[in-house]
This record gives sequence, structure tokens and C-alpha cells, in this order.
Amino acid sequence: MASIESTYMERTPKSATMGPRAQKVMPAGETRAAGYHTPYPLTVASAKGSTLVDIDGNEYFDLSNNFTSLLHGHAYRPIVDAVAAVIGAGTAWPARNNSQIELAELIAGRVPSIDLVRFCNSGSEANMLALHVARTNTGRHKVLMARFGYHGSHEVFEAGFFGNEGEKHWPHTITAPWGDADAFEQVLAAHGDEIAAVFLEGFMGSSGLVSAPTEFFQRVIDATHRAGAVFVLDEVISLRMNTGGHQVNLGITPDLTTMGKIIGGGYPVGAVGGRADLMSLLDPGRGKIFHSGTFNGNPVTTAAGIVSYGHLTSDNIAVMASLAERLEGHLADGAAAAGVPFACRRIGSLLNVYASPVAPAANIVREDADAMRLLHLAGMNHGLYFASRGFIVLNTQMTEAQIDEAGERFAAAYRDVAAELPG
Ligand SMILES: Cc1ncc(COP(=O)(O)O)c(C=O)c1O
Repeated sequence: MASIESTYMERTPKSATMGPRAQKVMPAGETRAAGYHTPYPLTVASAKGSTLVDIDGNEYFDLSNNFTSLLHGHAYRPIVDAVAAVIGAGTAWPARNNSQIELAELIAGRVPSIDLVRFCNSGSEANMLALHVARTNTGRHKVLMARFGYHGSHEVFEAGFFGNEGEKHWPHTITAPWGDADAFEQVLAAHGDEIAAVFLEGFMGSSGLVSAPTEFFQRVIDATHRAGAVFVLDEVISLRMNTGGHQVNLGITPDLTTMGKIIGGGYPVGAVGGRADLMSLLDPGRGKIFHSGTFNGNPVTTAAGIVSYGHLTSDNIAVMASLAERLEGHLADGAAAAGVPFACRRIGSLLNVYASPVAPAANIVREDADAMRLLHLAGMNHGLYFASRGFIVLNTQMTEAQIDEAGERFAAAYRDVAAELPG
């Protein structure tokens, strides 16, 4: 029988030839670590709805939704129409525009802790900007974050993501274990006068959908304020959990909130929002922080973002969550029938699947890497696309019938994995 990997390579010869070409001009032929996997990633040709097509013409049910940025799937008609209406009138203007104001109004109207919004172009940038605001406000330099938390591609935050705090490149980052309020309180009591900001995600996303109760957040917020530091909630992923952000579900009030992904409707976006006194540090008239960006709040992103975020409703949040629960059941059944170890974490419309009997504390320390790699490749062989770490993301356009079909494909993928797993 052909192996999972050889089947993948037989199905994707054109993607294979793209690798050597891409490697000549980009490190590992990639632009993005999260999308990379061996033997080589697909090269995508097009996408529509929940279908992704590679350059070999294979179709995949897209359960990645570009790592959560596609709330309504690919080429969602109302977004395509909104963008089409804009691009003929120019895509980058040197001054304020109407849709930028409208998107800011939508965000400030929905997220209770946000008075003012500043746009940028990615979630990573949003966190860098929030840090800049906090440092300027406090005159301090250090950051406290959860170990294995993810706040984007910036060396200050990578220290925590990789659990490398204290190394010489990252003198400004302190970490404490996710969910451990005592530990955060202790760090803030001991080093509070050096800490500008405490960053937490609404739940750990990249590290495997690890949630924490309101009490944890509230204790960290209180300790942050006792230390005179700024509390930043990273809602780059978690905003989709409530029309007002996951902070509404948690019942907490961050000083600053960082956003991205769904507020750009599939276009590059980031934003910081928060209390007026902090956000006013970005007021060019006062001159405290010079923050600019050629594409900040550009009319294409903001027109798409108004539709994307505007079409997030309590109803479709609930529908996506129930479809995700249904898919989790199919996954558990498929894995059990094939005899493959299975664990899963689910929050609303998001799942993280493991090929181990227990989900690890964080994705960065996994013992199921070999089996997960097989499941990921086998999934693609059966027309399923999801992130290699087992991250699965639903969109508002998915149907029960599609989820049931995905369940059957997963069952077939699990059977292939079982045939190759040792023992
Ligand atoms: C919680 C969180 N913060 C920040 C980021 C970075 O956003 P971007 O990839 O748009 O820079 C991500 C990306 O996945 C994220 O999950």
C-alpha cells in the first residue's frame, strides 16, 4: 500500500516543483512559519466559499480559514462586492476615509472597553503598538506574558511563545504560567515597578485553545493595576467569540485590546483599541508617540472589515459553535474506530486536535508530532485542509452536511494513519 506521504506527493506534483523554485528566493521557500510543513506545503491556486484549490487541481474543504481571518470563508460575496465598489476609486489614500471611520465606530460601538481605535496592518503590529503605548504611559520597559502565549512575530513576544524568557535577546520579557494567577501576582509584586504591560490572549490560541476562567483574568488585571501597569487583552483570535469580543464572555475590562484577522475581512489588518486617556497618547497633536503606517486603515481593508465584523452575529456564533461540537464528535468517533489516540480542545468555532490521549499544556511541547504529521497529510489526501498543528477553524458559511462529509473524510484519514502508526 502506498504510504500517506507518497500519496500526498503523487497528488501534488506541481506543488512539489514549486518548492525548489521558491527556495531560491525565499528561506525554505516560505513567507510564513505557521504554513510550513514537510515534505512541502501546497501551492494554492484559488479558493471560494469553504473550498481551497491547489495548483494540481485538487480541492480541499478548508478548515483553516487562514488561521481564523476568514470568518465567512473565501470570496464571501458581500465582501467581494464591498471591495469591488472601492478599488475602482483608488486603494490607498493619503488622508482619512469614510470606511475607516465606520469600522472604528463599529468596533467602539460593540466592544465595551474601547473608546478609541488606531488601525495598523497586522495583529503583530497591533501588539507592538499596544506595548509602545504602555511603555510611553508608564515610562517602564518590561512585559509580562503567559509562557507559550502568542502575540505575533516580534522578538519581545516570541520569548514567551517559545518559553525562552531571560535569554540575552529577550531581556524585557517575563513569563508566568497560563492560568496561574498566583504566579502572575508574585511577578507583579516583585517586579511591578519595571513592568509596562501585561499581555494575555482571551484564550491561548496558537498554543492549543487553552482557556482560563474569569477569576484568573480579573486577578491578573487587579495585580497589573496595583503595579501601575497596563493590561492588554489580545483579541486577535478571540474577538469572534462574541460580537463584543471574548472580553464580554469573560466579563472583564482591559485597558487596551488588540485585534486583527476578522476585522479585515481577509485583508491585512490590525488595530489597538482602548481607554481614551491611553489611546490619546497616539494623538499626533500631543506628540507623545509618532505612529504612522502607509496602509493603516486603507479603504480596501476597512470596507471588507465592516462587512466581515458587521456580519458576525450572536446567531452565527452559536451556529458555528454547534457545528464545531458536531465535528468534534465525528473526529472522536473516527479516531476511536481506527484506534488512533485522540484528544481535542474546542472553544466556540475553533478546535485543536491531538493524536495523543491527553492534550498537552501547549502546542510547543508535543509528543504526538509524528502521528499528527501523518494525520495532517492524510487529511489532505482525503480533501481536508487544516493547520498542521491540528488547528481547525469554522466559518459562517459551513453547513451540517459539509461537516458530516468532513467527518467521513476524517474517518478515512484516521484509518490511513492507523495503518502507518507503529505497533
Ligand atoms: C493571539 C494572536 N495575536 C497576534 C497574532 C499576530 O497576528 P498577525 O499574524 O496578523 O500578525 C496572532 C496570529 O495568529 C494571534 O493568534
